[in-house]
Amino acid sequence: MAKNDDNLLKKIVSHAKEYGFVFPSSEIYDGLSATYDYGQNGVELKNNIKQYWWKAMVQLNENIVGLDAAIFMHPTTWKASGHVDAFNDPLIDNKDSKKRYRADVLVEDYLAKIETKITKEVGKAAKRFGEAFNKNEFMRTNARVLGYKEKIAAIEKRMQSAIENQNFDDFKALIEELEIACPVSGSKNWTEVRQFNLMFSTELGSVAGDASTIYLRPETAQGIFVNYLNVQKTGRMKLPFGIAQIGKAFRNEIIARQFIFRMREFEQMEMQFFVKPGEELNWYKAWKKQRMQWHKALGLGNAKYRFHDHLNLAHYANAAADIEFDFPMGFKELEGIHSRTDFDLSAHEKYSGKKLQFFDPQENKNYTPYVVETSIGLDRMFLAVLAASYTEETLEDGSERVVLSLPPALAPTKVAVLPLTKKDGLPDKARAIINELKFDFTTQYDEKDAIGKRYRRQDAIGTPYCVTIDHQTLEDNTVTIRNRDTMAQERVPINKVRETLEKNTSLTDILRKINTP
Ligand code: GAP
Repeated sequence: MAKNDDNLLKKIVSHAKEYGFVFPSSEIYDGLSATYDYGQNGVELKNNIKQYWWKAMVQLNENIVGLDAAIFMHPTTWKASGHVDAFNDPLIDNKDSKKRYRADVLVEDYLAKIETKITKEVGKAAKRFGEAFNKNEFMRTNARVLGYKEKIAAIEKRMQSAIENQNFDDFKALIEELEIACPVSGSKNWTEVRQFNLMFSTELGSVAGDASTIYLRPETAQGIFVNYLNVQKTGRMKLPFGIAQIGKAFRNEIIARQFIFRMREFEQMEMQFFVKPGEELNWYKAWKKQRMQWHKALGLGNAKYRFHDHLNLAHYANAAADIEFDFPMGFKELEGIHSRTDFDLSAHEKYSGKKLQFFDPQENKNYTPYVVETSIGLDRMFLAVLAASYTEETLEDGSERVVLSLPPALAPTKVAVLPLTKKDGLPDKARAIINELKFDFTTQYDEKDAIGKRYRRQDAIGTPYCVTIDHQTLEDNTVTIRNRDTMAQERVPINKVRETLEKNTSLTDILRKINTP
């Protein structure tokens, strides 16, 4: 369902700041737009997401290996990849508000409004027909829905053709015909549509004149392609095999907004899977399935994900889909899965003059492998996890609590150890427990304020367990362990704490749910 829960996003942004997850970059200088820093809890959550992805890719699959390529690459890389010539956004300015927009996003927002109308029609009909309602049948036959769908298809087709043919006059004409207004000024007074390259460039070398333009990589994938042969040869890899990489990418996004959803400096987790030509579509299907399983295994709610299959394919792809997530701004792209044919390796062969091939002993011949790519934004994944976990609850006694119901394996702190009072040796006992657990789990010690307040602080950062040390602990070595979600407290022997944490906060059970392709 199309939605735009600005309020929820605002709450998440302020919660993320208040509890040390995400800060605006260089905030003491009023920040830098679309750039963010991860705080003490954010970095732990981010590292846990990375670890989940890395283990699922590299540790679980014997035919996938890792890589950490440099951010700077030879400038010809970006000529070969097509980024110098074609990594552009069509931009349009509103003459009254002076605000700049991506022309395609203006049209997409317009299409989302039509989608909302369809959803409303379905909702009304479901109410009218009750149990007898058949959604598929209704979508297939209702005249109004069919009219909306036709309109969407026609607009999409025209926009695609304007982009492919670089016909920016028609792009502007489309925006005018649809009577799209500037969201800020409400005016329809638009400039021409222009192309804008998204790569950041800088100069290499310190001697003026010797300098040459290099780019901050706009995707990590090219670092994988240029190392294909290095890894294949040194790792004695046989097709099919994959190379996985996590790293920073940079794009001079024009409408960088919606918090960490669209940033200028962000992190990607990408995997290129090299396969025999002709087998790519089977692998593409397998990876689509596999990546959806990876998401769903986290338990954020299956209804929060959907596939968006691309109908209009980029010239180098023979299949492509996004995994969309139900963000506070509605369903948006979280991950892309693309069957990229041999486009990238062949382009690098052409520009470098080096062969990037595989000798197939069964066929007794060399060929350039095809590639299936999975590409997910780490920051977007972070936002998805945060948004799905942010919960406001009214408790039985009427009080409110904000709890981050994070998957325990991703929680920044796995256990907080809290002495009931600051005296009688309780802090020493608490510290002794932490000293025992800290080698395997992230822990926090907190003795300030009443115990209820301390529980709330841990709820707000998503700590799955709180262990409380009281006077009885000194007598019989038992503690209470409190579950974040149920708030139930159980008295257990101290050694049960480790067992509970091992059982409930490790990634292993989540990873077991994912079948290798
Ligand atoms: N190598 C393919 C590639 O880069 P993409 O669809 O441009 O494909 C892949 O990017 C993923 O990277 C997206 O699905 C998204 O999660 C993330 N991403 C892209 N641009 C981003 C941005 N400006 N800020 C945050 N994440 C971004």
